[in-house]
Amino acid sequence: MLVSWPSLVQEVENCRKCRLCEGRTLPVPGEGNLHARLMFIGEGPGRDEDLTGRPFVGRAGQLLDKMIAAMGLSREEVYITNVVKCRPPQNRAPEADEAAACMPYLRAQVGLIRPQIIVLLGASALGAVLGHEHRITKERGLWVERKGVAFMPTFHPAALLRDESKKRLVWEDLKKVRDRLLASGGPS
Ligand code: URA
Ligand code: SF4
Repeated sequence: MLVSWPSLVQEVENCRKCRLCEGRTLPVPGEGNLHARLMFIGEGPGRDEDLTGRPFVGRAGQLLDKMIAAMGLSREEVYITNVVKCRPPQNRAPEADEAAACMPYLRAQVGLIRPQIIVLLGASALGAVLGHEHRITKERGLWVERKGVAFMPTFHPAALLRDESKKRLVWEDLKKVRDRLLASGGPS
């Protein structure tokens, strides 16, 4: 699928391809540097994201911002999006058919940005992007190379809010990402 950014965003805004359209206030296509070499993929919009139309702006998002800053980067230098662009009810994980319906948008975003590194935040992103046979607890911190893109699975920031002990592990993973990004010339 070869599309332009304006048509992609417009398609998401009008999208009714899955049941998640019914409960959304605003769809959340994603935001950031359209030439980023580093992309983050989360699960789906939560309440704050649904109300603002922006990804990762609630509590988990504030933690993600801190982690990005600790990597020596800013939010504006990377691209941030989710597996599904509309909020699942009660913040449940997206169902397989919802993730599948939304996947063409994510694929188009990756195709337009052509990032070198993609951080997969949590089980939903890992499963939807690399396949549901993958396990976040076993595979976080390990690079997966596919079609010229290096994927780094790690825990979702919301999981760190529930369990502080995971923070250290995520930081180990993000240092690998930072080092690889710097070794190959920086964020954009
Ligand atoms: N959690 C996600 O997975 N994505 C967001 O955009 C916000 C919270
Ligand atoms: Fe369309 Fe994705 Fe929203 Fe479903 S979640 S309605 S596929 S934009």
